[in-house]
Amino acid sequence: MTLATPTTDPPVLVADQLAKTFAAGSGNGALVAAVQGVSFSVAAGEMVAIMGASGSGKSTILHMLGGITRPTSGRVLLEGVDLAALDDDRLAVIRRRRIGFIFQRYNLLPELSLVENVALPLVLDGRPERECRERALEAIAAVGLGPRAEHRPDALSGGEQQRGAIARGLVTRPAVVLADEPTGALDSANARAVIRLLTRLVADRGLTVVLVTHDPLIAATANRAIRIVDGLIAGPDGESPLP
Ligand SMILES: Nc1ncnc2c1ncn2[C@@H]1O[C@H](COP(=O)(O)OP(=O)(O)OP(=O)(O)O)[C@@H](O)[C@H]1O
Ligand SMILES: [Mg+2]
Repeated sequence: MTLATPTTDPPVLVADQLAKTFAAGSGNGALVAAVQGVSFSVAAGEMVAIMGASGSGKSTILHMLGGITRPTSGRVLLEGVDLAALDDDRLAVIRRRRIGFIFQRYNLLPELSLVENVALPLVLDGRPERECRERALEAIAAVGLGPRAEHRPDALSGGEQQRGAIARGLVTRPAVVLADEPTGALDSANARAVIRLLTRLVADRGLTVVLVTHDPLIAATANRAIRIVDGLIAGPDGESPLP
């Protein structure tokens, strides 16, 4: 028998004084301090919500966590690996294998079937064809879309397409899934179904999720919420545990 010892497990993901400054694009050298020193950590099997007003820096934080954007200063540690220390090629491999992304728009490729779309991260990673298909079908079954595996995205509803995008985000068995407003394009019934699915995957498979959302009801289903105001974590101790 193995006993879970969550207090001694190292965090899956650590944001350490993350900051990002962009050129404002006005051509006069002005800068936008989008993120100004954000620190938190995420344990395995946790779902953490990031909330905050439009423009507060949520997506920028998520993109830094996922190695899409390099921080101006501060560090991201994923499974103990400092992403900033990796060159572009090694970062691309980590991004492909250890991080799953889910966006507001599902971004499924229209000319591919669902199973081909879901298999894509494995195909790009050079896995054998048969393994790609089997693992894609397993991920599709996990999101309840087994019977739709051979359909093209345009034959699926918005909610089904987003569940397909979740399957694609899971298929590599990543260390963490980063989701940027994954229900933002869905009606409330489909949004609830997608959130139920994510919380079930966290509970049943020990998935680790960092989710940006504007919806307090969705944030309340997470283990905890981090509120961002003007590129900083709000609140006296930075994080507000939810009931
Ligand atoms: N590539 C960029 N170049 C310049 N400024 C940027 C860039 N990306 C983001 N910003 C600015 O950084 C700030 C934070 O943007 P970000 O997209 O992280 O906000 P957000 O909290 O995700 O907002 P929303 O809820 O609207 O998605 C904004 O002021 C935005 O205009
Ligand atoms: Mg955003």
